[in-house]
Amino acid sequence: MEEALEKAPSRDVSPAAQPAESAFDARLRPRKLSEFVGQQKLKDHLAVFLGAAQKRGEPIEHTLLYGNPGLGKTTLAHIIGNEMGVNVRTTSGPALERVGDLAAILTNLEEGDVLFIDEIHRLNKLIEEVLYPAMEDFALDLVIGKGPSARTLRMDLPRFTMIGATTRLSLLTAPLRDRFGVTYHLDFYGAEDLKLIIERNAQALGCTVRPDAAMRIADRARRTPRVANRLLKRVRDYADFHGDGTITVEIVDRALRMLEIDEVGLDQVDRRILETIISKFAGGPVGLNALAAASSEEMETIETIYEPYLIQLGLLHRTPRGRMATEAAYTHLGLTAPQKTELPL
Ligand SMILES: Nc1ncnc2c1ncn2[C@@H]1O[C@H](COP(=O)(O)OP(=O)(O)OP(=O)(O)O)[C@@H](O)[C@H]1O
Ligand SMILES: [Mg+2]
Repeated sequence: MEEALEKAPSRDVSPAAQPAESAFDARLRPRKLSEFVGQQKLKDHLAVFLGAAQKRGEPIEHTLLYGNPGLGKTTLAHIIGNEMGVNVRTTSGPALERVGDLAAILTNLEEGDVLFIDEIHRLNKLIEEVLYPAMEDFALDLVIGKGPSARTLRMDLPRFTMIGATTRLSLLTAPLRDRFGVTYHLDFYGAEDLKLIIERNAQALGCTVRPDAAMRIADRARRTPRVANRLLKRVRDYADFHGDGTITVEIVDRALRMLEIDEVGLDQVDRRILETIISKFAGGPVGLNALAAASSEEMETIETIYEPYLIQLGLLHRTPRGRMATEAAYTHLGLTAPQKTELPL
């Protein structure tokens, strides 16, 4: 995740992965396309796309995955590799600092392998330029020497598949975007899908969750599988400590009340952002800059982590002049929205 996001305080409802969470994420990660819950259109398309490539005995085209944090991009990249029966090499935009790092990875790939580059919008320019011929012609252009005697050496690379993942499609340069044959957008999940994920993962973790309790967690999981998994973990702890380990609706309610997560999955930070817009900026519109300063959050964190879900819920509007709290936000916080004043004619 982005640096700013890494610094974000540990919140149970944050869709961003928390520092020690990768092992937990990996443990609950589905391995096959058929186990990947929801995103039906994407799965239908992907099944044809993978099946056709397999029939032809070819690697799949370069694939770009984009969507908000925690919706399953990394999971899908591994599923694709697994379904194609190839290795998945993983790196990320910020990790690729020198051309040499990338060259080492590329020359070690085997025919058909997947190279997964996470946070692909954060590649530096030099690396990006090496990627263009690598993606297009499966060739690595290395510059040998310096100054007037410098020359370019072209090396052939195995035919590989690049899978890029990003939360910020708009930050990708056009030439890089153009080199992906397919782009998939991951959407927020419906509550039924999240319920299924929770039930399966409860089973994987060896705990019992009642169907209505699974639904209760799903409704508070911000339409995001990572949040659903994390809430399940927290609630399971609560059930083990305060009860007999069975997750019931009552246990969910008590656990989430303790975590100050409300009935739509907002925590105190979300509420503070809305309250800030309402109390300090008369409901907005307020620029992201001013909002970040007044609520002591980073701009990027607000934009990538908090805002997408608040917008989904219709509590916040993004307008050209800034962010606005909607009437629903006032209602949600138990406040009265100001009367709209009619302009005199
Ligand atoms: N469709 C799905 N079905 C089941 N579990 C899922 C699904 N999508 C995601 N998950 C679960 O959610 C967790 C987070 O998913 P993943 O790490 O793939 O998200 P991401 O989009 O890569 O997030 P980030 O932007 O932070 O890298 C995984 O551990 C996985 O268990
Ligand atoms: Mg990821």
